[in-house]
Amino acid sequence: MSVVLGIETSCDETAAAVVDDRWRVHSSVVESSIAEHHHFGGVVPELAGRAHVTTIVPVVRAALESAGLDVAHPAIDAVAVTAGPGLIGSLLVGLAAAKAYALSWDVPLVAVNHLEGHLFAPLLETPDLAWPVLTLLVSGGHTMLVHQTAPGEHEVIGETIDDAAGEAYDKVARWLGLGYPGGPPIDRLAGEGDASSLVLPVSMTGDDLDFSFSGLKSAVVRAGEKRPDLAHADIAAAFQRAAVEQLTRKLRRALERYDVAGVAIAGGVAANSALRAAVTDLAAQFGVVAHVPSLAMCTDNAAMIAAAGLSHLARGATSALHASADPNWSLADVS
Ligand code: KG4
Ligand code: ZN
Repeated sequence: MSVVLGIETSCDETAAAVVDDRWRVHSSVVESSIAEHHHFGGVVPELAGRAHVTTIVPVVRAALESAGLDVAHPAIDAVAVTAGPGLIGSLLVGLAAAKAYALSWDVPLVAVNHLEGHLFAPLLETPDLAWPVLTLLVSGGHTMLVHQTAPGEHEVIGETIDDAAGEAYDKVARWLGLGYPGGPPIDRLAGEGDASSLVLPVSMTGDDLDFSFSGLKSAVVRAGEKRPDLAHADIAAAFQRAAVEQLTRKLRRALERYDVAGVAIAGGVAANSALRAAVTDLAAQFGVVAHVPSLAMCTDNAAMIAAAGLSHLARGATSALHASADPNWSLADVS
């Protein structure tokens, strides 16, 4: 049995986890500097980087301890670490720590793509899941549709042409004065509003599997400025309905084209209540399994990074100790 320590520091979460090759999570620890960024409307890279520096060692120690491992000489087979995409200063803190641990414990380093990590989240909750799976990967920086045929075997079949879904949530929330991150407060507020009080244009109605969210965000702002009487809850509800409608419309189109056993959602926006309900519904309509991970598994964590690392390790694909971070590492370039 292989056991891997995963480390994740691509954004505001400092995370470490221990996972084995049967996709069992032995421990998963996540610390976040999110409260420090709340009033800035987004993650401040310098603050995030500094927080990782002070948090990384205690978080790794906590993950090893709660997995029942010897902190000085843990019985692990590799250290997997996010090497991109993400904030360069944050990535470098995790990468430097991972290299130091790998060197001192004499185990291989595995550089992992953060987006590939998200694709492993459903597997950690359903280790025997049936393939292929269509995954809607929706986070603060990315929105894409991925066709997965096995762990680590994936093809990007659709992508946003401008903003990510989470970015649209964050921008609309900022405009409404709801702070960062914007997804959770808009999700909550939408539950109290009337989506039909504001008609928003439907974007990306074409036949392709791509997305666009920048027009939707601008339409919300324009409508809100024109009608100052509109309640924030109604704006949130209308925006959420349009955003989820676009995501599910493209997922439906993909389900019509690809013969799969299941659909999955992954990434921070997968925590959205309306999206979770819509995808569960869609899966039932197509008679496929819906993989809707727990909230903790949707947002950034290191268990998913350890899992991706395990799949690379199984193929002997380890990284050199001089591996560097790539803030723009595309999922399409993951081999
Ligand atoms: O995957 P993630 O934790 O970090 C990135 O890799 O980007 O995703 C963070 C994003 C943020 O844009 C946040 O607003 C969004 O996920 N998010 C949500 C919800 N919870 C988090 N968006 C919509 N509804 C939510 N409930
Ligand atoms: Zn993420």
